[in-house]
Amino acid sequence: MTVTIARENAIAVVTVDNPPVNALSQALRRALVEAVAELDADAAVKVVVLICAGRTFIAGADVSEFGKPPQPPHLPDVVAGIESAKKPWVAAIHGSALGGGLEVALGCAYRVAVASASLGLPEVKLGIIPGAGGTVRLPRLIGAAAAVELVAGGSPVGAKKAQALGLVDAVIDGDLRAGAIAFANEIAGKPLPQPISGRAVPAVEAGFWEGAEKAVAAKAKREAAPLRALASVRKASETDFASAMAFERETFLALRGSEQAAALRHVFFAERAAPRPPELAGVTTRDLRSAAVIGGGTMGAGIAAALRDAGLPVVLVERDDAAVERGLANIRAIFDGSVKRGRITPEVAAERMAGVTGSDDYGLLADTDLVIEAVFEDLAVKRAVFEKLSAICRPDAVLATNTSYLDPSLISEGVARPERFLGLHFFSPAHVMKLLEIVPTEATAPEVLATGFALARQLGKIPVRAGICDGFIGNRILKVTRAQAERLLLSGATPSAVDAAMRAFGLPMGPFEAQDLGGLDIAAFQRKAARERGETAFAPVAERLCAMERFGQKTGGGWYDYVPGDRAPKPSEAVAAVIAEEAAGRPQQAWDEASIIDAVILPMVNEATRILEERVALRSADIDLVKIHGYGFPRWRGGPMHYAEARGLAGVVAVLDRLASEGLAEPPCGGLRRAAEAGSFSVLAKE
Ligand code: 3HC
Ligand code: NAI
Repeated sequence: MTVTIARENAIAVVTVDNPPVNALSQALRRALVEAVAELDADAAVKVVVLICAGRTFIAGADVSEFGKPPQPPHLPDVVAGIESAKKPWVAAIHGSALGGGLEVALGCAYRVAVASASLGLPEVKLGIIPGAGGTVRLPRLIGAAAAVELVAGGSPVGAKKAQALGLVDAVIDGDLRAGAIAFANEIAGKPLPQPISGRAVPAVEAGFWEGAEKAVAAKAKREAAPLRALASVRKASETDFASAMAFERETFLALRGSEQAAALRHVFFAERAAPRPPELAGVTTRDLRSAAVIGGGTMGAGIAAALRDAGLPVVLVERDDAAVERGLANIRAIFDGSVKRGRITPEVAAERMAGVTGSDDYGLLADTDLVIEAVFEDLAVKRAVFEKLSAICRPDAVLATNTSYLDPSLISEGVARPERFLGLHFFSPAHVMKLLEIVPTEATAPEVLATGFALARQLGKIPVRAGICDGFIGNRILKVTRAQAERLLLSGATPSAVDAAMRAFGLPMGPFEAQDLGGLDIAAFQRKAARERGETAFAPVAERLCAMERFGQKTGGGWYDYVPGDRAPKPSEAVAAVIAEEAAGRPQQAWDEASIIDAVILPMVNEATRILEERVALRSADIDLVKIHGYGFPRWRGGPMHYAEARGLAGVVAVLDRLASEGLAEPPCGGLRRAAEAGSFSVLAKE
């Protein structure tokens, strides 16, 4: 970390260089305090420009310090020091001015930024609120309504929008340093604006706070930070600066030590670690400049759209002309949907579509860098596709299957140069869902595996390496969750009670509603395949519902009844009768919300631990990412493994032992018992 000071006549340029993102470590905070003192004492300096080296302005407090006691100088004092400096400071922003970085900029007399910069207070995404005056200075600068949006929403704004809000004083074209120095020369000697801390917050309309509270609460659901952030902005609008700062700091420190903040920090670091697994460090990747997708159904179309969103030209291969047209229409519908939601303009949609070539001719793939297969889930069909690809594609082209349940090694039998083959398991809708399970076979070359991770980065996805087993990581755990949910039905719970409990836990949907949405037939098909392999698949009620052709919403009934045109699930007497028949003779009990949650979530943790023991997943944090990004597990709970660790693994084992003794779950596996003794899953990674 270095902070250097250069002189350009009467302008001092303070350059912060603290890679990778200029986070406000203790050393940087101290250096900034020292810079203020040094430049205050220098009579030749009229204005100070604060600029950063590297890819970004200060991107915030150093999140890795959050688990430890705060060390002086504290950030609010650093910001106050800059604000009360004898010389005006000008923040010169490129990249991201986030969290503490923006708070430092708010201490400056002026802010200038390049057009590509973004500014924001993302603290709520880490389960905290700004802790160095963000909630107090921002409403004084841009008004309460805009401040609430930035602080409680946590999303950054671009420089142009920031300028319109009054957050940025000038957008600099060309070189930022030169532009900021020119700006500094312009303001030198002019009367200074009043420091933000001395300004009042403009009055808000009657009812504003009540409306804001409703809107923020509805969006935050059970996350604590957004409402606390709103309360802090409100306090800042209704009291003096010093009291508001004290209120903000107290809230910040309380939340910093909260379970939600610890969980969100865990996810933050897991997400950043995921694209660069240590075991692939230094492995070179293949360049991916063109791609093809085989099969333009639900998944193929979504994958093609994701590839186009990342700028890759795509060839879509289907079985015949009619299927090509259907596939292209599927892709077009995705881009049209993005236009409707305001995510892209019609021009961008047209440009994305123009980059897709539809054909039934595999010959077009002779020079394609990457081919992803998304045809029917049928081994023979998939093998036939790869046979053709083997014959046509360049020997170094990467060949991937999007299979959900088939064994990629079996699919790749017969592929010439199998080292270039791997599984790339996207989740539906593939252009939206962030998770990408990357499944190497024994033959996959490290370089090809690393290319899978590089592709995920290119597509903005979260990659997780998964070993080969039925369902890889995510769907294997899903199977256990569903079986567990049925066990509860046979022992006295109802589908609506189970779904309601899982929603209360924080999932967007319960297991039965989710099956009705996706269709019960898919899982039935997999259970049939499992039985053919000699495995047992526990789903007595689901099997009966499928026999009654109750496949879910698409057939007007599944676990629930539906009236035409209404997706709201209604408890079904027919289903209750089937459950009662299947449950006959089994012990019944009353299920409350907490015991339903335990009986669904903890067996999930048990299966996930087996997955770790078998090295199907390499890290427990990877499993957390799979559940959060593929299955809606609440982010603020940190994923099932973090949840279990935070709750105490010994307690988890005790509950599972009890459930097992009652015949309501599998007993805890050996790995879970060992992890419980050690107090952490990390012991399994070391075995
Ligand atoms: N603290 C510590 N490390 C951080 C960090 C932070 N605030 N932000 C990023 N990093 C680390 C990452 O862990 C990663 O480390 P690695 O290379 O060892 O894996 C490295 O910096 C690069 O991060 P990214 O891969 O995310 O880099 P990108 O270029 O893709 O993105 C970014 C850069 C937009 C700045 C992104 O990193 C980001 O959004 N960071 C978080 C910003 C944030 O949340 N700031 C608020 C912090 S809370 C706060 O400031 C409290 C204050 O109010 C008191
Ligand atoms: P789908 O039935 O919607 O689409 C399959 C497409 O493949 C059809 O358009 C069909 O015409 C085409 N096709 C079949 N044989 C072909 C061939 N020989 N050459 C070219 N095209 C051919 O199926 P979906 O849902 O898109 O699934 C595709 C694959 O993705 C399957 O392996 C499935 O298991 C997997 N998958 C599905 C997910 C889902 O949620 N639907 C999630 C993740 C993976």
